[in-house]
Amino acid sequence: MEFYKFSIENPESFWGFQANIIPWFKTWEKVLEKNHPFYRWFVGGQLNASYVCLDQHAEGNKKDKVAYYWENELGEKEVVSYYDLYCKVNSFSKFLMDIGVKEGDMVLIYMPMVIDAIVAMLATARLGATHNVVFSGFSKNAIIDRIEDSKAKYIITATHTYRRGKRIDLLSTIREIENEKIEKVVVLDRDGSFTEGGKYIKWPQNKNFEYVAPVHVESTHPLFVLYTSGTTGKPKGIVHSTGGYLVYVACTLKWTFNVGEDSTWWCTADIGWITGHSYVVYAPLALGITSFIYEGAPDYPDPSKWWSLVEKYRITEFFTSPTAIRMFMKYDPEYIKKHDLGSLRALGSVGEPINPEVWEWYYKNIGNSRCPIIDTWWQTETGGFMIAPFMGIIPLRPGFASLPLPGILADVVDEQGNSLPPNTKGYLVIKAPWPGMMMGILNDDEKYKQVYWSKYEGMYYPGDYALRGEEGYFQLLGRADEVIKIAGHRLGTTEIESAILENDFVAEAAVVGVPDEVRGETIAAFVTLKQGVNKDESLKQTIISKVREIIGPVAVFSSIFFVDKLPKTRSGKIMRRLLKAIMLGKELGDVTTLEEEASVEEIKKAYEELKQSIG
Ligand code: WT7
Repeated sequence: MEFYKFSIENPESFWGFQANIIPWFKTWEKVLEKNHPFYRWFVGGQLNASYVCLDQHAEGNKKDKVAYYWENELGEKEVVSYYDLYCKVNSFSKFLMDIGVKEGDMVLIYMPMVIDAIVAMLATARLGATHNVVFSGFSKNAIIDRIEDSKAKYIITATHTYRRGKRIDLLSTIREIENEKIEKVVVLDRDGSFTEGGKYIKWPQNKNFEYVAPVHVESTHPLFVLYTSGTTGKPKGIVHSTGGYLVYVACTLKWTFNVGEDSTWWCTADIGWITGHSYVVYAPLALGITSFIYEGAPDYPDPSKWWSLVEKYRITEFFTSPTAIRMFMKYDPEYIKKHDLGSLRALGSVGEPINPEVWEWYYKNIGNSRCPIIDTWWQTETGGFMIAPFMGIIPLRPGFASLPLPGILADVVDEQGNSLPPNTKGYLVIKAPWPGMMMGILNDDEKYKQVYWSKYEGMYYPGDYALRGEEGYFQLLGRADEVIKIAGHRLGTTEIESAILENDFVAEAAVVGVPDEVRGETIAAFVTLKQGVNKDESLKQTIISKVREIIGPVAVFSSIFFVDKLPKTRSGKIMRRLLKAIMLGKELGDVTTLEEEASVEEIKKAYEELKQSIG
């Protein structure tokens, strides 16, 4: 508690001291530069992310320490020490340099969960270039949007990945993209199926070691851009710094899971998400710990897969999502009991609220009632954990992410920004800057100000509901905006609606998130068809396929309703809360208080009409 108090009262000396968790080539001149709402950390300091993650260990006493164990569905394995990884990254950096990648360039990475994906990220960072990782489950259009917005000139990809025993081609997706601005596509050939030609070149194998001096970048140099969905149509490019980001992710991993020399850490997230960036790649490497990564589905070929890996690699700290846990809850616990999970010391959760029932199940069945559940609340934008149990704080409460981490000033406020009393639902806000915070939205300062800093003056608005319970513990209560969380993945309603509208028989579409037992939420869509188009059931499948094609398989539908018209307010706004209320089976009485912009009469009428048309 003293530590926390100090961090809040003296943020600059606190973070100035914490910043020594990583090595710097040159010390910063200023811990924090404020130009609200743009904050810059460790200004004037110089460092390189790949040096922080590799050289410091490979040149020191961790040379032979395992950095990653890797395994895939086929049972193929790879183990790399810090020195091995250092060699791979240097050699690949040299290769990238030779094809023209240089400081300030943007490199798009579309790779499966393999060690080479991490090599690609670090080699990019070594040259002072910026990476933009696109989740390998995203489809062509998602990649095109990102290339256009981020102005990427290079793509690093692989021939394929495996999922549930199926070969999934990645290269063919990249080949469908016609973009003359792309100069080179580097392809990791995993099965000899690739032939070079034009801008497509092969990732060199067994190259001799070649040292590349890490480029000294300034602390606020963008390490990466990662796109995330929000209330606006197109995903936003969240820009993260190098110095502040690395300091923050390293500190927060240490403070929560208390990982150490003897850890074998397993964060199950894909590198395509922020959790993968921060807690598969940058934090574990900066701290010099050993991680395990896996390329494949959790329950393939059967639900004991993950637990057999925990046993085999003697995993000490395990970090996953509530969606994954909920999926395992549906299976016979025998699948788990078969395996000795005695190596586990801490269990983590991220991505969505973990309800008390799921928390208890995780605690008992995976942790054998002896491992703390580290529920971590944060976002792509925050870089690292914000609200999470600090070093085994006692007691933990099921369903509560506990308290803000050191340096984080969080509160729950009402519509006007006043702090709310205990046990009252309101909006979560962060009242002071922190080093892991994004630097902004790529190419869009206005949107950055509007989305995160305009609801309340001087407070960061994450868009989540929360309440504070006993002893100030925070409970997270889901999104307060038009974001749907499917299996922990963020999709904006507008984004999904635009994809539905790509079907030329659709006139209008509105989507809402509906509760789903495993995935947390899925999509319910209300669609009006163009004149003359029959409400043919088969069109529903066409819509689903189109959305999958545009966004990717993360967009999962629970239902699609063809309606004659969408309920709208007089100003033409779709009454989404009414749609949601109908999906949740609420009575009309509950509904009329929900919509702010329509009269009770209008709502009544719309409610009846809609109920009738969806049957
Ligand atoms: C949103 C951010 C943070 C990495 C993965 C998702 C929700 C995240 C929790 C949690 C309740 C959570 C919030 C947040 N969320 N963690 N522990 N409890 N909700 O990152 O895609 O940027 O999504 O995920 O709604 O705003 P993201």
